[in-house]
Amino acid sequence: MGDLPEDDPFAALLADHADFVDKLTELEATLDEMMATRDASEENEILLDESVRFFEEELLPVLAAEDEVLLAPLEKAIGRYGTLVNVVGYEHDEIRRGVDKFRAATRELEADASWAAIQETNRHGIFLVQFLWDHFRKERMSLFPTARERLPAADLERIRKRFAP
Ligand SMILES: [Fe+2]
Repeated sequence: MGDLPEDDPFAALLADHADFVDKLTELEATLDEMMATRDASEENEILLDESVRFFEEELLPVLAAEDEVLLAPLEKAIGRYGTLVNVVGYEHDEIRRGVDKFRAATRELEADASWAAIQETNRHGIFLVQFLWDHFRKERMSLFPTARERLPAADLERIRKRFAP
């Protein structure tokens, strides 16, 4: 992000997304290990718990904030249907459903670390890893540039303040 101006309205949000990608990489490594060993070690289970905490406490609030300060004003500026607003809003709902399924799968795994429970946790976990990776890329490459062009300055300032560390 070296070429972004310091006061870019999306600088803090892009930094959050980069942190989230690191967390997803850790989750992917744990899932790969469980699939290779057909087992869930104590460290694997700790990392799965941490991933659920991360999704609930860090990721979901950011999606809600994006809906509120980014998608809502952008809908006023460019409309919803046939635009990125609809696509990204739909993806946020898909991510929320994915988090619910992943949380349920990890609970099952904690109760009984069967091969079926490992596979189910892997399925929902890998879905989230891949879907989020693509989602963040879409926001970075398409949604944020559109917002920079089309939103009034006051809306961009509200976005900058909302995600400021
Ligand atoms: Fe998003």
